[in-house]
Amino acid sequence: MARIMILTGAGISAESGLGTFRDKDGLWTKYRLEDVATPQGFRRNPAQVHAFYNARRANCAAAAPNAAHVALARLEATLPGQVLLVTQNVDDLHQRAGSQNVLQMHGALMRATCHTCRHTWPAPAEMQPTDPCPACARKATRPDVVWFGEMPYHMDAIAEAVERVEIFAAIGTSGQVWPAAGFAAAARRAGAHCVELNMERSEISEEFNEHRLGPASSIVPEWVQDILNASR
Ligand code: OAD
Repeated sequence: MARIMILTGAGISAESGLGTFRDKDGLWTKYRLEDVATPQGFRRNPAQVHAFYNARRANCAAAAPNAAHVALARLEATLPGQVLLVTQNVDDLHQRAGSQNVLQMHGALMRATCHTCRHTWPAPAEMQPTDPCPACARKATRPDVVWFGEMPYHMDAIAEAVERVEIFAAIGTSGQVWPAAGFAAAARRAGAHCVELNMERSEISEEFNEHRLGPASSIVPEWVQDILNASR
């Protein structure tokens, strides 16, 4: 059972060149969330939704993990079996940095799923509304990402873990999207030490015992080193 649970958000991938959602120039200042991140938006205009995720998939493929992703992979490798990484990010930068115990609660850009039968398969670089599902042949291919109004993945495993961890860290997330925004309060109620690592104080800053503010590529490696020093 993991002793350390880390929740990451878009801020950890910002320095890899992937946009956040709610910062100045964030994705939700350029696109309407209702158009590209809801089942209703997909029904109305699947081509627009595919274009949005095709562009994000291309950005992700061109990006590389930064020092923060690498530090979290080192933490897991140094403390085997003790670290659970839960990410809201749909990029694959944690895995490419070497993290293995990763739950992608909002799904994965690099996977496709069938909106009808929910078969999943590796995503092609470009998806189109007319692509058939390889299992049921319906033209209902979509990115395997969780949209607003849909149930995030792995919730049972996350809910169980959050009750048992000793350290909970949230990195690069604004604390505005549920259920992830509730994890810190749940961990703290269960007795965990909760630390926020973010560029600025988040919406739910008061839920944390400790705050480390700054760019993830600096503050995450420092925090990982402090955890490793304390674990010796
Ligand atoms: P947000 O865009 O809401 O928040 C990003 C956070 O990262 C902000 O608090 C920034 O201050 C911080 N940040 C930015 N650059 C940083 C850096 N270099 N180092 C450290 N922190 C930095 O992104 P999320 O909280 O991940 O869901 O958003 C949560 C969910 O909302 C996403 O998974 C997505 C979105 O709508 C869906 O699409 C379902």
